[in-house]
Amino acid sequence: MRSMPTSSPGPSCSRSGISIGDRIKKRMQNWLHIVAGVVMAGLLCWGITRTFESDLLSRLSIESDHTGSSPALHQKLAGLSTNLPGLSSETPDNGNVLYDKPGFELHVNRSYKLRPRISDWDDQRRKWLSKNPHKKPTATGKPALFLVSSSQPSPCDNPMGDHFLLKAIKNKMDYCRLHGIDIFYNMAQLDPAMVSFWVKLPLVRAAMVAHPEAEWIWWMDSDALFTDMAFELPLEKYGNYNLVVHGWENLVFEKKSWVGLNMGVFLMRNCQWSLDLLDAWAAVGATGPLKIQIGKFLTSFLSERPENFEADDQGALIYLLNAEKERWRSKVYLESSYYLHGYWIKLVDKYEECIRKYHPGYGDERWPFVTHFVGCEMCSGETNAKYSAEKCRKNVERAFNLADDQILQIYGFHHQSLQSSNVLYL
Ligand SMILES: *[C@@H]1O[C@H](CO)[C@@H](O)[C@H](O)[C@H]1NC(C)=O
Repeated sequence: MRSMPTSSPGPSCSRSGISIGDRIKKRMQNWLHIVAGVVMAGLLCWGITRTFESDLLSRLSIESDHTGSSPALHQKLAGLSTNLPGLSSETPDNGNVLYDKPGFELHVNRSYKLRPRISDWDDQRRKWLSKNPHKKPTATGKPALFLVSSSQPSPCDNPMGDHFLLKAIKNKMDYCRLHGIDIFYNMAQLDPAMVSFWVKLPLVRAAMVAHPEAEWIWWMDSDALFTDMAFELPLEKYGNYNLVVHGWENLVFEKKSWVGLNMGVFLMRNCQWSLDLLDAWAAVGATGPLKIQIGKFLTSFLSERPENFEADDQGALIYLLNAEKERWRSKVYLESSYYLHGYWIKLVDKYEECIRKYHPGYGDERWPFVTHFVGCEMCSGETNAKYSAEKCRKNVERAFNLADDQILQIYGFHHQSLQSSNVLYL
């Protein structure tokens, strides 16, 4: 099934769910005795989180799945869900058999679920949109985009890191202002189970639920900068897709390469399919003893993935796309015709040539849309050994200035050079 094009009224997104009635029953039996044990402890935690959640949800008049019903509570505590087929459900999760190398078997942390639980988001969102028709399209009539990014709540370890983050958020604000895109920059730790690369999952989910008017949630890493301020996403291409990410089919599905796509920048349609993907994805990343095992599994499953590297969102998504192809693949658009994400090493030395030969608006080789400083770790200062901190610093400045010149010219100024923070009248 394909989702309707974005021009059709109301939200749309299709799922190819698998019937799992029998498996659920079997798992229910297995879980029954565990449930009894955790119910008491769970009730306490649940009471606390429920209050917070229902507050958020009632403010938005959005219903989550477990509104007070005790069967739903039991399911929640048991980590069961009626609408989510598991990754490998033949063997019950007993906490022992965690790592199955052959084929596509991987035991994930199914006791973890992102909140709020919602299974009828498409309906809820459609209703909301029909009640708030003025909220839907942007001024330009295009499907509404909502950009989210985030950084840690505490100061950076590297003294230059905070200055860099400031520049990076200014850069995003500039792009969003020019293109009428709403932006949310988060600095709070939303979910203790979703740390480091995984913070984007609860954040993207929260943004979807809080912004039913947004058709697309656009995630962008804090270390990715817009370098083409004129380029606009070709959203009309993505009418049949729910996830758009920079990558290549052959690398993801044939080579199963860890770098076959990059999760630093992606678009996710605001729909139930996406909430389901986030759930399946989060199960691979939830903090806990499984994380190391899953990391080992991903390294054995994928090519070009480092050894001794804990489960990461990028590896997990490539795994999911391969292991559950029927469920996800048809809705994922791997974009490589422009730099939705652009690896900085390949781009930064070409900036002068871009300026000499072209102009902003192409987004591709001629003038890259996004330059992503992968591995520079500007905030932590733990720069990947492959690059020198100096090279990172210098090129971040160049990328920033390349973008900033496109803004400053509106006000009649430009940078003396890409290396310089000094500006001159045009
Ligand atoms: C599953 O995730 C939860 C939440 O982070 C964590 O407490 C638990 O230890 C994890 N379980 C395993 C087996 O990794």
